[in-house]
Amino acid sequence: MIGLGTMGRNLLLNMADHGFEVTGYDKDPRMLAKLEEDGKEKNLKGHASLEEFVQSLELPRRIVLLVPAGPIVDSVISELQPLLEAGDMIIDSGNSHFTDTSRRAEDLSKTNIHFFGMGISGGEEGARFGPSMMPGGDKQAYTAMKEILEAVSAKVNGEPCVTYIGPGASGHFVKMVHNGIEYAMMQLLAEAYDIMKNSLGYSNEQIESTFKEWNSGRMKSFLMEVTADVFKFKDEKTGKLLIDLIKDEAKSKGTGKWTSQVSMDLYLPIPTINEAVSTRDLSKLKKLRVALSEAFDKPEIKIENPEQFIVDLENALYFSMIVSYAQGLHLLTQASEAYKYELKLDEIAKIWRGGCIIRAELLQDIYAAYQAKPNLEHLFEDKNIQEKIAGTLSGVRNVCSTAINHGIGIPAFASALTYFDSLRTANLPSNLTQAQRDFFGAHTFERTDEEGIFHANWNAAN
Ligand code: 6PG
Repeated sequence: MIGLGTMGRNLLLNMADHGFEVTGYDKDPRMLAKLEEDGKEKNLKGHASLEEFVQSLELPRRIVLLVPAGPIVDSVISELQPLLEAGDMIIDSGNSHFTDTSRRAEDLSKTNIHFFGMGISGGEEGARFGPSMMPGGDKQAYTAMKEILEAVSAKVNGEPCVTYIGPGASGHFVKMVHNGIEYAMMQLLAEAYDIMKNSLGYSNEQIESTFKEWNSGRMKSFLMEVTADVFKFKDEKTGKLLIDLIKDEAKSKGTGKWTSQVSMDLYLPIPTINEAVSTRDLSKLKKLRVALSEAFDKPEIKIENPEQFIVDLENALYFSMIVSYAQGLHLLTQASEAYKYELKLDEIAKIWRGGCIIRAELLQDIYAAYQAKPNLEHLFEDKNIQEKIAGTLSGVRNVCSTAINHGIGIPAFASALTYFDSLRTANLPSNLTQAQRDFFGAHTFERTDEEGIFHANWNAAN
C-alpha cells in the first residue's frame, strides 16, 4: 500500500486481518508510526524508502495506491516505474477522475506494467471492516487481486461487495456516479431537515427520532442512520448539540461536480444530482444570503395537518431517493454505451447494497429490477418501482407545494418531482423551443406529420 493515511492504513489493516501478508509505504514518518501502532498485534511494518518497499514485495508485485487524487498519483507512478518489473501491477484506489485513469492506463499499457483504477466507498469504517469496491480496467491484474478484494470487501447475504466493473476507467467512473447519487441523497436529507425544522417547528430531538423511525422502515440506509445520529451529538466544548454550531456552508472535493459535468457532455439529464452540486455552491454565498434574507419577507407558515404532513414527507423522501438512483443509473447506462464500459447495472446495484455510503434497503429492489431486465433503459420502467412511485405521489406533491408556499428552498425535492413529471409526459412543449431556434437561427426542425428536416420563413407571419 502506498499512502498510509486514514483510508490506506485501514484498508491495509483489513487485509492483514484476513491473513494476507502486506506492507506499506509513506513519505510521512508519522503515518508509518501510526500503521505500526495500529497493526502492533499483527506485527505490521511499513517502509520509509520506496526502493526498500518495492524490493520487499513478492513478484509479480501488487501495489495499491491510496494517495490524494490528481498530480500526486502521476508523480507516485513515475517514481515507481523505474523500480518495477514486467508483470507488476499498480492499482489506483483513490477518487481519481476517470479521464486521468484512462490516460494512465493508456500510458502504462505501453510498458509491461499492469494498471487498474478502483473506486472504494465506505469511508474510514468501510476501509477497515469492509468497503464496497469498484475495480475496472486491466482484467488480468484484477484477477490477481480478486481473492484479496473479495476477502476484505463488505458482504451482503454472504456475497462480496466487489465485482469487476468493466474495461478502461469504468471503475472510477462508477465510483464518481456513486458520489453524485451520494450528493443528491445528502441534499434531500438536508431539505427534509429544513422542512421539519422550519415548516413543522420540530426540535432536534424530534428530528432525530423521525429520521430514526424512517430508518427502521423502507428507507433504511447508511445515510439515514448517520443523519439521525447527528441530531443527538453533543459538542464537548459547549455541551450544546453540535449541529447547531456548524456553519451552513457546504464544501466538496469535486466528484459530484464531475458527475454533473459528464452528464452534460453525454446530454443525459440528472437534474437532482446537479441541484445537489449547485446548492452546496449556493450555500457558500453566506453574505449575500444574509443580506437578501433582510430584503425580502418570508411567507407565513401554517401546516393544517402536521400528522399527515410528516407521512407525506416520508413519501417525498422515498420518492426522491428512487429518483436519485434512477438518474445516476441512467447516466451509467448512457456512459456504458458511449465509453464501451460494458457495465452490468445489476452487478453495480448488487455491490452498492453493502459497504458504501449510498447503501440502502432500496438497492435490493433496484438490483431485482436490473436482474429481471439487464438492459432496462430507465429504472422507472420497472413495474415494482412504478408501484412504489405511484404510492408516494400525492405526498410528494403536497410536500413540494407546501415548501414552495412557505418560501423554503427545496432544489432537490422540486427537481426530482419535475424530472419525473417531465419524463412521464408524452408531449412536452419542446416543439416551441424548436420553433424558436428555427425562427431566430434557422436551426431547422422535424415535423410530426412528415419525415425530413424543415425550415419555416417565420417572419412571413408578421
Ligand atoms: C465514499 C465517499 C468518499 C468521500 C467523498 C466526499 O464513497 O466513501 O464518497 O469518497 O466521502 O470524497 O466527497 P465531498 O468531499 O465532495 O463531499
